[in-house]
Amino acid sequence: MKAGSPRPAWLIRGACALLTAGLVGSSVPITTGHKGLVSPYTYNEHVFPILNDRCAACHFERGPAQMSVLDYDSVAPWSEAMRLQLLSESMHPDFVDPIDSAVMREPTISPRDLDVLLTWVGGGAPRGEATPPRAIAPTRLRWTSGRPDLIIPMRVPHTVHAGDREEIHEFSLPTGLSETKWVRGLELQPGNRSIVRDAEIRVADGPTLALWNPAQKAMATPMGTAFELSPGAMVRLTIHYKKNYRDDDSALTDRSRVGLYFAQPSRSATIQTLLLSGPATDAATESRVLTGMLAAPVRMLAIRGSLDRDYSSVTAEALTPTGCRSLLVLRSPRADWPRRYWLADPIDLPPGTTIRVTATPLARPSVDALVRPSHRFEVAVEFLGQRQ
Ligand code: HEC
Repeated sequence: MKAGSPRPAWLIRGACALLTAGLVGSSVPITTGHKGLVSPYTYNEHVFPILNDRCAACHFERGPAQMSVLDYDSVAPWSEAMRLQLLSESMHPDFVDPIDSAVMREPTISPRDLDVLLTWVGGGAPRGEATPPRAIAPTRLRWTSGRPDLIIPMRVPHTVHAGDREEIHEFSLPTGLSETKWVRGLELQPGNRSIVRDAEIRVADGPTLALWNPAQKAMATPMGTAFELSPGAMVRLTIHYKKNYRDDDSALTDRSRVGLYFAQPSRSATIQTLLLSGPATDAATESRVLTGMLAAPVRMLAIRGSLDRDYSSVTAEALTPTGCRSLLVLRSPRADWPRRYWLADPIDLPPGTTIRVTATPLARPSVDALVRPSHRFEVAVEFLGQRQ
């Protein structure tokens, strides 16, 4: 197998095909890339631009991940870990199977870039001669889509105390709105980038506006759709704080801000939700299945999920009266990275369609991969249509 193709096509099985064939093909043959004595690629010339582009949203000095990819001395000791990461199916934060999923994907590493990185590691990860261009990261120091229509800061700063490494905290933020608004986009600006790991932003008693992680661009709803925000609505911001090990003994303070972009009411069609959820369980040796039925016709737009633990695979499919359609296939997804996936093209589903989500546990879970009581196993189907 060439280093440029991480997974041979014959290993890939669709979710629906899996059901009929009754087998799970999730193992990946390990390749060593081109092992040479000397790499034709160097960090300064070839590797830095790729890492800057693809990994620096999180891997920067005092960012949420422990190594900075923007500094040779910081990244070089991690090169072997990076190789394993790049070859594994679980390249965070993107676990989407590119072939079987109907969802939009953010750009990941191209086969050519992957080849450059693997060849560089295999050839001893050389630094190179030229001075590297200066990094532009951390990339998210400004609003990425211009100034939001409404900026809502946390009312008071929150401190993660010395000795505490990880916590999930919910904040209520008043919008102060006196009329109904429609939200077409949203962005979070962490007050402290080294501890804000991910976040959920929802309307109290209303829709989830976004599942945020540091690599995510401003969320934008497709095709003039929007989330409804009533007068006086409160926004619930749930932040997952996680400190780097080097900060364990420091108290670190955050005051994040939510930015909302509004749509014109006339263009807006309100997004609705069908929620499938199950309790967190540590008895997960067998596959877990969530199902829900659509009572009315819908135009499906997105699928959003959070996991209670790491799984070997998670699939979502629509079982219509006439057949089965794969919606989403995640390979080795981790509970750490809850996400919303917009469909590449909306799918019209007839009444009586069953949405089925199947989560297959890891054969040998690591301690980190086990159940997190703070996390829910929850999948939501988001659509336009009559209320279910
Ligand atoms: C959305 C944020 C984010 C992006 C983007 C990201 N990482 Fe990470 N990465 C992390 C975090 C956070 C950790 C710390 C370990 C953990 O908690 O998973 C990490 C850890 C790692 C590690 C350490 C080994 C391990 O698994 O713990 C390697 C290697 C790594 N990342 C490589 C990469 C590479 C290569 C890219 C780009 C292709 C990348 N990461 C992109 C957030 C990110």
